This record gives sequence, C-alpha cells and structure tokens, in this order.
Amino acid sequence: MERTFVMIKPDGVQRGLIGPIISRLEARGLRLAGMKFMMVGKDLAERHYAIHKGKPFYDGLIEYITSGPVVPMVWEGTGAIDLVRRTVGATNPATAEPGSIRGDFAVEIGRNLIHASDGPETAKFEIGLWFDDAELVSYERDADRWVYE
Ligand code: RTP
Ligand code: MG
Repeated sequence: MERTFVMIKPDGVQRGLIGPIISRLEARGLRLAGMKFMMVGKDLAERHYAIHKGKPFYDGLIEYITSGPVVPMVWEGTGAIDLVRRTVGATNPATAEPGSIRGDFAVEIGRNLIHASDGPETAKFEIGLWFDDAELVSYERDADRWVYE
C-alpha cells in the first residue's frame, strides 16, 4: 500500500466540486486515510510550494491557494501516487485527457482544481507537512478484497 497527498484547491471548493472529486477517487478503489477542511496560511502554502519559488507563476499560485478553504487528504492503495496523478490529469486542464478530473472539470492551468503528489519523496514530505501521524487512520475495508485480487 502506498500513500499520496491530495488537496482540493479553493476553486474546487467554491465550485461545489468537493463531492464529485472525492467520488472519482473513491470509485477508483482508493482508500481514504485522512481528510481536513481548512484555510491555508501563507507559511504553509510557501512550504508546500517551495519547489516553485522564483518561478513566474509563484506569487499567483500562493495567492490562489490561500484565497479560500481547501480539502487536504491522504489516499492509499497499490501504486496510489501514479494512479492518482493519472486520475487527476495533466497540469494544464486544456490538454488534460477527458475522463480525468482536470480534463472533465477545468479549463485553465491557474485554476486546475486539485493537487496530487508527484513521487514517493514528495508524497512523504507533503503528508508530513499537512498531517500529524495521529490524524491518519489505518483500517481494514471489506471492499478491498473486491478491489485487489
Ligand atoms: P500540483 O503540484 O498542484 O499537483 O500540480 P502539478 O504537479 O500538476 O503541477 P506543478 O508543476 O507542480 O505546478 C504546481 C501548480 O502551479 C500552478 N501552475 N501555474 N501559470 C503556470 O504556468 C503554472 N504552472 C503551474 C498550477 O496550479 C499547478 O498545479
Ligand atoms: Mg506538483
């Protein structure tokens, strides 16, 4: 089982897409391990997007992510990091495949609805940044024997 960090961005919340986005991840067969609903402070936003500091879109990105409530989550499953990235779709919704979350619900790169960790190191860092160990739940789910062979 692999864990990945996922966050519904402020546009997802404002547009009433929390449910549809979570439904995609649930229906895929992934298992929820943690979830919050919160405003993001500038400090946390800057730590989360530290890798993009100095890029032309950085200031706008920080403003966007701190502009309204977000839904940070941890999802788990076999190969969850890649699986979620594919379910989310390409960074620019204009080129994201129809059937992906961004490809079905978004138009512009600066309003692309959702974040997902892009690799094992990033996932570990981001899960630790947004969640304490005690806020993550380990449990058995009966349906998993119908998801995994
Ligand atoms: P994310 O980190 O949010 O899951 O998105 P990503 O991996 O697909 O894309 P990344 O390259 O990490 O970029 C982070 C976020 O910055 C915004 N962005 N804007 N205007 C632009 O050229 C531009 N490029 C990136 C997007 O919100 C992107 O998701
Ligand atoms: Mg990224």
